[in-house]
Amino acid sequence: MIKILRHMKRRQWVLFAASTAFILLQTFLDLSIPDYMSAITEMVQTGTATTSGLVMNGCYMLLCAGGATIAAIASGYTSAKMAASLSQDIRSEIFHKVQTFSKEEMDRFSTASLITRSTNDVVQLQNFCARGLRMLVRVPIIVSLALYKMSVRYWQWSAATALTVVLIMIVIALLIKYAHPRFRRMQILTDDVNRSMRENMTGMRVIRAYNAKDYQMADFERANTNLMSNERKARTLLQLMPSTNQFAANALTVAIYCIGAYLVAGASSGTEQIAIFTDMVVFSTYATKMLQGISSLELIFNMLPRAATSSERILEILNTEPKIQSGTVTERKGPASIEFKNVSFKYPGTSEMAIEDISFRIEEGQTIGIIGSTASGKSTLMNLIPRLYDVTEGEVLVGGLNVKEYDCGELRRQMSYVPQTAVLFTGTVESNVSYGGNFPKGGASADAEGENAAHKERVRHAIEVSQSEEFVSRMPGQEEAPVFRGGTNVSGGQKQRLSIARAIYRHPDIYLFDDAFSALDYKTDRLLRAGLKKESSGATVLIVSSRIATIKDADKILVMDEGRIVGEGTHKELLESCRVYQEIAYTQLTPEELAKGA
Ligand SMILES: Nc1ncnc2c1ncn2[C@@H]1O[C@H](COP(=O)(O)OP(=O)(O)OP(=O)(O)O)[C@@H](O)[C@H]1O
Ligand SMILES: [Mg+2]
Repeated sequence: MIKILRHMKRRQWVLFAASTAFILLQTFLDLSIPDYMSAITEMVQTGTATTSGLVMNGCYMLLCAGGATIAAIASGYTSAKMAASLSQDIRSEIFHKVQTFSKEEMDRFSTASLITRSTNDVVQLQNFCARGLRMLVRVPIIVSLALYKMSVRYWQWSAATALTVVLIMIVIALLIKYAHPRFRRMQILTDDVNRSMRENMTGMRVIRAYNAKDYQMADFERANTNLMSNERKARTLLQLMPSTNQFAANALTVAIYCIGAYLVAGASSGTEQIAIFTDMVVFSTYATKMLQGISSLELIFNMLPRAATSSERILEILNTEPKIQSGTVTERKGPASIEFKNVSFKYPGTSEMAIEDISFRIEEGQTIGIIGSTASGKSTLMNLIPRLYDVTEGEVLVGGLNVKEYDCGELRRQMSYVPQTAVLFTGTVESNVSYGGNFPKGGASADAEGENAAHKERVRHAIEVSQSEEFVSRMPGQEEAPVFRGGTNVSGGQKQRLSIARAIYRHPDIYLFDDAFSALDYKTDRLLRAGLKKESSGATVLIVSSRIATIKDADKILVMDEGRIVGEGTHKELLESCRVYQEIAYTQLTPEELAKGA
């Protein structure tokens, strides 16, 4: 919890200091009221009361009460402002940090948990900073000021009050010890509810088609019930606080009056008895104020465990050092070749290698096809080139240099990677195609206009080559047509074509297509490859596909099986020599095509 405060900026510390100053003022004014009360009581008891004296003291009391209220509002405002500003900064920090994560860290945290951490956990922290922190500052001030004012009277009362405070503190400490772990668990269970909710929403079509509503409902109910029962237990523990406070307040009042009776009995004169009685009235007012302060601790300790857990969960993200650290080389020296040297890779947390002892070399300008059965390690191999993961053994070289040496941004700038599952972002067709591009989207200067026209032309060209024109021209607004979240308003094949257009738009030196043509019909696949061949002439192209037709014209084909390369050569050579390739070919090609190839 304390550690997260290190993320506070100067502006937030200033607001915090202002809030603390207002709290001090508020408490001081609040605790001044009994002094005037004491003066009035004394006037009445000693018979020295005058109307003007009473009115003046009454006015002072009113002024103190009004001032305390204004100070309380000001401290509430400044602390709310501080909390909102801190949570905005923390959300940004989380966002930036997550952007540096490799797939390994993403897998470790899980998307559902990262979302809960950057929303729910930040809100918990914000609530605490806005209200809890203020009280946390106020309670010691109110307690020490009240104790100071009370101690000038009779030590017996102060001792009884201090003892009560210590006892309450012990109960609070015990509650934190037992409630805190449950609140930590509550956050994890919220992740689980979030996961179930997400799965239910993203998999809606499959759930309906498989009549799996009951199954999903049961899963959600389980997660929801777990959260509820854990929360019930945690809150039941915290419910002990008000009863403890009530008991302590009653016990303290009884103690003050008993001590008062004892002191009055021991007094030597009537005047002293009146003085003790006045002191007792004032003292019990202070004691009540102080216990009110302490009962607000209940709210703090209700919030603190959750805020502390949330801080830990946020810090877990902020303190994670991404395993993939950027290198320093910002420019490729040699041609855009790709080489794997005895590369093996194991996913974190698994015991077996996903790919093993892979070696091959692709020269600049070559097109290489990679084929193999499901789970043979094709995507894994592809992920290693843009350094989405780091190799476990061996080396991956781009332009003759280990990928680890490159600045990550520079390495990825050289290549366009089209993942197996097409990803589209909320925006327009144009924003998706030019995604990550730095072209001006408008402007008055001649230069900007020229660049804008060039950008539009590149978008149009990428759409044309990726065979997307046919459906984009039918969309409302064409390139300006909206794309909904996750690309839900376009078909699977259209999504693939738009993500290929995105790769073309960048005009990179290296193209990486991971089964990016799988949802296209044969005709579109053929047309797209023909266009791409012209477009990518001179570039290095890697195409993963499970279709022989897609890769058979490649300069070289790698055949993968169970994480290893089991064949390397042209379509013709492999048809003659590679058993795994032959098996795939027999199931996909007609006898004529087979005869033509062989
Ligand atoms: N994130 C991951 N964590 C753990 N294991 C993984 C992960 N991703 C893939 N694997 C495993 O690695 C192996 C290779 O998977 P990979 O995705 O590379 O296969 P693929 O050849 O691309 O298959 P497909 O043709 O189905 O796309 C599989 O056994 C798979 O279970
Ligand atoms: Mg794959």
